[in-house]
Order: sequence, then C-alpha cells, then structure tokens
Amino acid sequence: MRALHPYLYGEQPKIKGLIKLNTNENPYPPSPRVLAAVRAAVDGRLRLYPNPTAEPLRKKLARLHGCAPDNIIVGNGSDELLALATRAFAEPSPKPKVQGSNSQWAKSAVQYFTPSYSLYPVLADIHGAVRNPVPLRPDFGLPTVAELRRGKIWNFGAALTFVTTPNAPSGRGYATSELESLCRAQRGVVVLDEAYVDFAGENALALALKFPHVLVARTFSKAYSLCFQRVGYYVGHPALIGALHKIRDSYNVNGLGQVAAEATLDELDHYRANFHKIISTRRWLGGELTKLGFCVFPSRTNFILAQPPRFSARVWLDKLRARRILVRWFGQPEVAAFLRITIGTPGEAEALAEAARKIIGLRRG
Ligand SMILES: Cc1ncc(COP(=O)(O)O)c(C=O)c1O
Repeated sequence: MRALHPYLYGEQPKIKGLIKLNTNENPYPPSPRVLAAVRAAVDGRLRLYPNPTAEPLRKKLARLHGCAPDNIIVGNGSDELLALATRAFAEPSPKPKVQGSNSQWAKSAVQYFTPSYSLYPVLADIHGAVRNPVPLRPDFGLPTVAELRRGKIWNFGAALTFVTTPNAPSGRGYATSELESLCRAQRGVVVLDEAYVDFAGENALALALKFPHVLVARTFSKAYSLCFQRVGYYVGHPALIGALHKIRDSYNVNGLGQVAAEATLDELDHYRANFHKIISTRRWLGGELTKLGFCVFPSRTNFILAQPPRFSARVWLDKLRARRILVRWFGQPEVAAFLRITIGTPGEAEALAEAARKIIGLRRG
C-alpha cells in the first residue's frame, strides 16, 4: 500500500466563471428529455435497489449495436470496467519478474502504449500485476505488428492489453484495420478503450463481435454529457462478459445512471448534433492556435494536444489559469511539452484563443 500512487484527477474547482477545459467533459448539457427522465425517477423508488444487471439498458444497447444483451456489461463508468478487466484477466504477481520466455510474466502482464490513459498503470499496480508500457511512435501512431515484434518490448501473450482508441492524450485516431492486425496477433485479452470514439470517423466495435478475446469499452461520460452519472459498458464475447459479471459488485450501476443512459439512447440525434458542433469548434480552435504558433496535433476526440510557443507548457498552464482558463498538463516526459485542451463551446474556444493572443503579447490585457 505504501508504494501505491493514486490516479491523478483533473482539477474540479468550484470557482465561478472559470472556463474548464481540463477534464474532457462535454460543454453541452444532457438533452431536456434525459433531464426530465432523471427528475421523474427521483421519487419513492430511491429506496429500492436498481436493476442488478442494468438489463433494460443492456437490451437497448444490444439493439443499437446489433448484438445480444449477453454481449454487454454495464459499469459504474468505464473506469470500473477497466479495473474489472485487470482483476479478471491478469494474475497478481507475487514479485516483479523479468520478461522473456517466462510465461508466468505474461500471465501477470498489463500492457499498454505510452502515452495513453494514465489509469492503466494505476490499475496494474493496485492489482499487483506487472506493467508493460510500450512507446507509441513519436507522432503517437500505432506501431505495426512487425515493428512491435522487432522492438521486443511488446508481449503478444500479455494477459491484458489496453489500447486507447482514439488515443488520449494525443487525440490521434487509429484505423480499424491496424487495430484488427494488432488484435489478431494478440493471444491475451485486448480492451479497445473507445471513450472518445464518437468524435472520430471510425470505430472498432465490430472487432469485439468478431474476436472472442476483444472487448470494446464505451462510456456515456464524454459524448453523452453524463460524467456525473457514471455509466460505461463493454461489448464482447459472452465468455469474457460472463467472467466480469462474476466479479462485479452486485448493484454496480446506480439507478439514476441507468435511467439517464436509457433515455440518452432515445435521443441519439440530439447528441449527434452536439458531436458535429464539437468537431467544428475543434477545427476552428486548432486553426486559431496554429496561427498563433502552437503545434497542434490532428485530433479525433473532444480535445486537442498542442505544443505552445514562447513559454513551456507548464508556464502556459499557470498563465491561462491566471486568466481563469483551466487546461491540462501532464508531467510525463513524452507529453510534458504539450497542453491538452478540451473542446468547449465556441465562446469558450474564442476566450481561450483571446487569452493566448494576450499571453503571446499580440493583444494587450
Ligand atoms: C481513455 C479513457 N478511458 C476511460 C475513461 C473513463 O471514463 P468514465 O467516465 O466512463 O469512467 C476516460 C476518462 O477520462 C478516458 O480518458
């Protein structure tokens, strides 16, 4: 316990008037019908336990994705599901082991690319599994299977592999064909973490229905404006899904979260309109920041990763905060030169661009 480090959350300040672009929340509220459904559920039913397997929600999700409810497990946010996969598929390792032909090492290995979602190593450590971080290409592209074989760090027998797709924090998207090649080569369980996929042009859900060792993780948090309610789900083979059902908490998804997620699925057109707004603001902000000398990576998500000019990213973080704009900076060496900026409303994006102009000295103030 003394050696563990908790996950570092993005700041959630309660300061009025702050423009919050640090935790990839959706700037648009849930649809009025979703809010009405949640309000209507706040009555005497709160004394009852919710549906233990989120069955009505699983049935609706199964219809949406053209699969069976047995292909789906719902979690208290996708974070819970990532933790469940770690517990279900990787063996705790009694002491650190060296990679090589050691099959015991592979059984305990939780493997992921760097940079990607910073929760994966935390989950591996909590479980006492071994971490296997493997660098992405310098442009955050996915190495090919041949490159991974040559690199000799990647383990094709790793018990569990997490792939953030599109990637966070770079925002880079991956083609389903490259993900398929990777899944095909992998012998352990692969989780394709598609938390941001609604802002990309392509998704890899079909791989979870094609391969028995692949799970796709989705969340209602980002594209569906429901972080507060904590609802995520996996799609995958009933054998993997069944294993996860065995080890989850009995009532892992709260009742209001289930109600909100079900109502959301009746309102997909409302949310699709929001995706388009966010994508168009992303394009605008990327263009503005590029004009100001930022190096902006192409993004398929609701955030952009950008290397700022003049000052270090760490200094920009403070300078923006002094102007009441919160963005995210990560200290890991691969991304320490960048800021991760959530795409807000057009007004918030304009405020950020204006603050950047002033920090650079193009405008007074
Ligand atoms: C890549 C990735 N996966 C999963 C999550 C967790 O989302 P949820 O709110 O569903 O737990 C996040 C949240 O930031 C994320 O960035």
